[in-house]
Amino acid sequence: MITLAFESSCDETAVAILRDGREVLANEISSQIDIHKRFGGVVPEIASRKHVESVSPVLDMAMEKAGISFSDIDLVAATRGPGLIGALLVGLTAGRSLALALNKPFVGVNHIKGHICANYISHPDLEPPFTGLIVSGGHTYLIQVKDYVDFTLFGKTIDDAAGEAFDKVARHLGLGYPGGPVIDELAKKGQPLYDLPRIWLDEEAYDFSFSGLKTAVINLAHNLEQKGQEVHPAHMARSFQDAVVDVLVEKTCRLNDHLAYDKIVLAGGVSANSALRKAMEERAGQKGVQVFYPDPILCTDNAAMIASAGYFHYLQNGNKSGLYANPNLTLQG
Ligand code: KG4
Ligand code: ZN
Repeated sequence: MITLAFESSCDETAVAILRDGREVLANEISSQIDIHKRFGGVVPEIASRKHVESVSPVLDMAMEKAGISFSDIDLVAATRGPGLIGALLVGLTAGRSLALALNKPFVGVNHIKGHICANYISHPDLEPPFTGLIVSGGHTYLIQVKDYVDFTLFGKTIDDAAGEAFDKVARHLGLGYPGGPVIDELAKKGQPLYDLPRIWLDEEAYDFSFSGLKTAVINLAHNLEQKGQEVHPAHMARSFQDAVVDVLVEKTCRLNDHLAYDKIVLAGGVSANSALRKAMEERAGQKGVQVFYPDPILCTDNAAMIASAGYFHYLQNGNKSGLYANPNLTLQG
């Protein structure tokens, strides 16, 4: 079964074509990162306009790459949300229109489920159930993934997303955007010399909070500057990253203990973080729990993961959301 999918929830215009939900025939991504860089973050109105410009060329590129014709497509999918509403509308409308023109079924896909499904592409034998941690620029969710379609939310951020904290701290330290990859690299050259808080909230809770940590970094940098001391970027990057990773690993492993699964699956842009991967593998490995994460290109936003989620959704539920799917900014859907 051939699925073609669109993703336009944030700053990547992406089209992918998959066979049977796991085999990638094309995965084209046009990133707007360079455009948003000078603003230090994504500007929603600019993102929407750029998606409109890019969506048709990216579709053409994907079709050419896959070497198929439109009549070969069995199912069309597009991200329905959560995301920036104006941005979402572009890919969603393109997907609905294509499905209508081809007289094929259409499925609106939840972006978070999409991130999880990136792992089904990178690990062809991976099957649910498992504990899932989705950490990206816009989302931080700790979930129980019961099957290919259903999940239960256990924890989320009460303020900044994990990736957002990386981006904001990097901006404050003058390291550029997006901050995650820069901090990841820089931290390898630093030591955890700065004392930064781990925000546990309630010990029993699965929710996260990262804005206090971000403020702690900013305050510490100010204090040092006022004393005429320089902030050491690599040590600060390492101290900050350690604080984020400690909390993510502890809460994820605690939920996995509770659910008694033998797999933990990471997804989203921050799952590319080398320290997070290593710490999670070490900690989970002590209990014989396996850790999975997607190939780097499938960690950040892409349409291959949306095609995979659309395929599994269609197998289980048919095209319930149908041609009239509107953006859905809630977590479920
Ligand atoms: O999944 P994604 O492309 O977008 C959203 O759905 O939000 O994730 C982008 C986020 C950015 O905040 C970026 O800084 C972060 O993922 N990121 C990383 C790394 N690579 C990307 N954070 C930490 N370490 C990395 N290596
Ligand atoms: Zn995402």
